[in-house]
Amino acid sequence: MSQTSTRPEADIKFAYWVPNVSGGLVVSKIEQRTHWGIEYNTRLAQTAEQAGFDYALSQIRFTAGYGAEYQHESVSFSQALLHATSKLKVLAAILPGPWHPAVVAKQLSTIDHLTNGRIAINVVSGWFRGEFHAIGEPWLDHDERYRRSEEFIRALRGIWTTDKFSFHGDFYRFHDYTLQPKPLSQPHPEIFQGGSSRAARDMAARVSDWYFTNGNTPDKLKAQIDDIQAKAAQNGRYVKIGVNAFVIARDTEEEAKAVLAEIIAKADPEAVNAFGDAVKQAGQASPEREGNWATSTFEDLVQYNDGFRTNLIGTPQQIAERIVALKAIGVDLVLCGFLHFIEEVEYFGRKVLPLVRELEAQRALVAA
Ligand SMILES: Cc1cc2nc3c(=O)[nH]c(=O)nc-3n(C[C@H](O)[C@H](O)[C@H](O)COP(=O)(O)O)c2cc1C
Repeated sequence: MSQTSTRPEADIKFAYWVPNVSGGLVVSKIEQRTHWGIEYNTRLAQTAEQAGFDYALSQIRFTAGYGAEYQHESVSFSQALLHATSKLKVLAAILPGPWHPAVVAKQLSTIDHLTNGRIAINVVSGWFRGEFHAIGEPWLDHDERYRRSEEFIRALRGIWTTDKFSFHGDFYRFHDYTLQPKPLSQPHPEIFQGGSSRAARDMAARVSDWYFTNGNTPDKLKAQIDDIQAKAAQNGRYVKIGVNAFVIARDTEEEAKAVLAEIIAKADPEAVNAFGDAVKQAGQASPEREGNWATSTFEDLVQYNDGFRTNLIGTPQQIAERIVALKAIGVDLVLCGFLHFIEEVEYFGRKVLPLVRELEAQRALVAA
């Protein structure tokens, strides 16, 4: 398996959620100056690149679900964003089941060549039974979904790095398969995954380059990270960690808190509860009941991935300090959602990011 077993010395990285799904990232009737279309997203990607963001994360959804009436497909949308930028890396979300690893390996290898090595993948394992039912995909048990995802990742990595690749799994089989051309990125495009359950963590410790988890408090995140890294170390690996946060940065703390209060006050209870029912089924379906959303409250669920819990809500200084504290507990990347994406990404780049870099430099000096 690729990768070193120690944490790389690096600045904390930033990603933003691509709003390729309508309705923004909060299930609320508050005004959102965010649009799911390509014109808005092209300007957003260019703004984010300029602001200092490293990655953009696209989403995959096949059906409306709750509060997301329109959904552009992740791989093709990611490619459009890559062609509109020059440094930003874009993560295409992929669901094993609808996608076969041979198709993904081929598709992403080509995109990697077209974009000078800037495509990456986020393997998601599925939480929405209704969606699978709608497109005629069998809905596997929770841990079976992860067993399939792990085979998917092993197959993908094998195809990307090996000639005459053979694999005999329960879900996928390959016989002396040689992909040409192999991807430009070496050893291969980065492999991210999303999920927090026991099965998700163990899969990360074994095969993923990056582990993405829902928002949470620093102590809960630390427990999760320590758990994963201990297992990864047994496999001679280090897994990079990305954490979701819904960022509300304003000149004063009062303003930021007022925005949060308004988002929650204007939450759409029917949609939040329906989303909550679906994801809790998914989270509690994991045998240990620790999956994403297993303990989410109504307020948490107003943001799709518990992003308020990370508490990047306040002034640029408060947020920068909390980000550096996240880095200290083992977080390598913050995945940011915003209410009004373009204007807030620009503000984040101008006001928050320079403070983060200053604090990181100060800490490095102290440690030296
Ligand atoms: C950062 C992040 C991004 C995700 N993106 C998607 C997505 O685009 N589409 C999707 O169906 N699920 C997505 N998921 C859901 C996960 O793949 C997984 O199904 C869910 O978190 C439940 O995981 P668990 O059973 O391990 O708790 C995402 C999860 C995270 C943490």
